[in-house]
Amino acid sequence: MIFKNISLKKYNTFGLDYNADCFISIKSEDEAISILKKRGSLKEPLFILGGGSNLLFTRDFHGTIIHPEIESIKIVDKTQDYAIVSTGAGVIWDDLVRWTVENGYGGLENLSQIPGMVGATPVQNIGAYGVEVKDTIEKVRAISLKDGSIREFSNEECMFAYRNSIFKGELKGKYLITNVSFRLTTYPLLNTIYGSLKEETEKLGPVSLITVRQAVINIRTTKLPDPVKVGNAGSFFKNPVVSESFALVLRQNWPKMPYYTDPSGDIKIAAGWLIDQCGWKAKRRGDAGVHENQALVIVNYGKATGEDILKLSEDIRESVLEKFGIELEREVEVILST
Ligand code: EPU
Repeated sequence: MIFKNISLKKYNTFGLDYNADCFISIKSEDEAISILKKRGSLKEPLFILGGGSNLLFTRDFHGTIIHPEIESIKIVDKTQDYAIVSTGAGVIWDDLVRWTVENGYGGLENLSQIPGMVGATPVQNIGAYGVEVKDTIEKVRAISLKDGSIREFSNEECMFAYRNSIFKGELKGKYLITNVSFRLTTYPLLNTIYGSLKEETEKLGPVSLITVRQAVINIRTTKLPDPVKVGNAGSFFKNPVVSESFALVLRQNWPKMPYYTDPSGDIKIAAGWLIDQCGWKAKRRGDAGVHENQALVIVNYGKATGEDILKLSEDIRESVLEKFGIELEREVEVILST
């Protein structure tokens, strides 16, 4: 289905009211292939928009937006130990997580309530509460925007890293993800190591897929704003990775600074804490502001523009650089011009 001059307001969780010249919703892989084979007739540039939960538009989009609405959840293989669940790119992520928990499949429960759609999850390797989606992805099926050919990527080929993958790197803008397969456990293998998750889970009863999911939802609800009520895109910046020697210097000056050592040995500093220390928490500039419970989240209270939000984020970045000598990198993708 092709629409002209459509408002993107309901397609981005910041709730920004910019228009796209052309918008195509795609309901099946075959439809995607036939549209992409006629790419010459589409207004360039092309942009793939999933749930719009990690995006900041700053102006109207003078090109073609492709919105995958492929919806299906299917078990394609099952043994005593695991199930492979094949999922359409247009399934709402948390609908999938709920389905896996209700059906007793483990692996996604810590990623409960993350906004967005399944197709976007491998792109930035979403993560929360000690789990990243790369831990369960079996393969990603995608169509080349160049010629409509299909390619399947193994987990290794996706080149996953912290909030990163090949789809954000060398293949950025080159593929439309249509389907993601997950390898889930058929027995509980629960991970409640992160922060207060264990404590919150135990309050709800014996540790199970259901109680872990509910605990994650409870923690997220207290810390993070609901994009349905107030525009936001979750963490605006990534947690910066620094060298061990620099972390040591920082810790001498700021003994309370939270940090984590990755399994890879990298030291990650909590960007929310850095921003908070610069006095930004709960600050508001017109309708753009910093969330009151989590300084890593920038919110749109209603009428902020993409430019307002971008300007606020740049000022935040500058003050963190000045105070700590750390350059924050955006997690949110900013669409600057077309
Ligand atoms: N902190 C502050 N002040 C703040 C915010 C945080 O002092 O305003 C401190 C906290 O007290 C804590 C530390 O910073 O000691 C880390 O905070 P938190 O546990 O809330 O997690 P985070 O590192 O800020 C990351 C992810 C979130 C994910 C949570 C939970 C990134 C960029 N963000 O946040 O992901 O939900 O961990 O696992 O990695 C997202 O990507 O959109 C997102 C929300």
